Amino acid sequence: MRTPLVAANWKMHKTVAEATAFVGALQAALGGSLPAGVEAAICPPFTALYPVGQLLRGTGIALGAQNLYKEDQGAFTGEVAPGMLAELGVRYVIVGHSERRSLFGEDDALVNAKVRAAFRHGLTPILCVGERLEEREAGETEAVVTRQVDRGLEGLSPAEVARLVIAYEPVWAIGTGRAATGEDAAAVIRLIRERVAARFGREAAEALRIQYGGSVKPENAGEFARYPEIDGALVGGASLDPRSFAALIQAFRR
Ligand code: 13P
Repeated sequence: MRTPLVAANWKMHKTVAEATAFVGALQAALGGSLPAGVEAAICPPFTALYPVGQLLRGTGIALGAQNLYKEDQGAFTGEVAPGMLAELGVRYVIVGHSERRSLFGEDDALVNAKVRAAFRHGLTPILCVGERLEEREAGETEAVVTRQVDRGLEGLSPAEVARLVIAYEPVWAIGTGRAATGEDAAAVIRLIRERVAARFGREAAEALRIQYGGSVKPENAGEFARYPEIDGALVGGASLDPRSFAALIQAFRR
């Protein structure tokens, strides 16, 4: 049985003061501890990783980062190395978010190099895939997502694939208030799992967690949580408020 993972992607939001205040408020909203049957992670901006990580110690809530660079060290001004994240206790790292792909020119080859860099340092990548609106309307969802999965997972071992998290985030659903339906999300997630099974074996495909992301809120979380294929959510806007994020964690308990 896979344990759902509900992860907060704060994007470029929250100062250190705001981020640390959030952790206390989240703990209170959860009634003091993380409920059984679900995992949770918070991915703050780089500047808040250290203090948030200190506060999360012993809470069962994991620390995540929103990005990393593919190299271990070197002259890469402005980039952050995987080992630097691992040192802070970072467990998850978001890779290939559609904002990185569209605004910062990340292609599938760079995304794959980042996934491999994360594994080299014991981090668990949350690999984001998803089609744009015009691709969905052109009937290309399957082709786009399959290509992103194939290229993103290139060179991984079945054991690494089993540990990986994939987030299916249709680009048209991100930050728009227009979520996919549970059935649509579950259908694409089934397709991703079958693709992974064909390439890496059934065991790895059944162990791998595949989340849905895109306008997930407490009001629609049940629509996704009721599908056994959907192993949690990657949440932007609704993760910024501690009570709303706590409600999402509760909604995905399995
Ligand atoms: P929203 O939840 O704000 O739609 O963002 C989703 C997302 O991009 C999470 O990575």
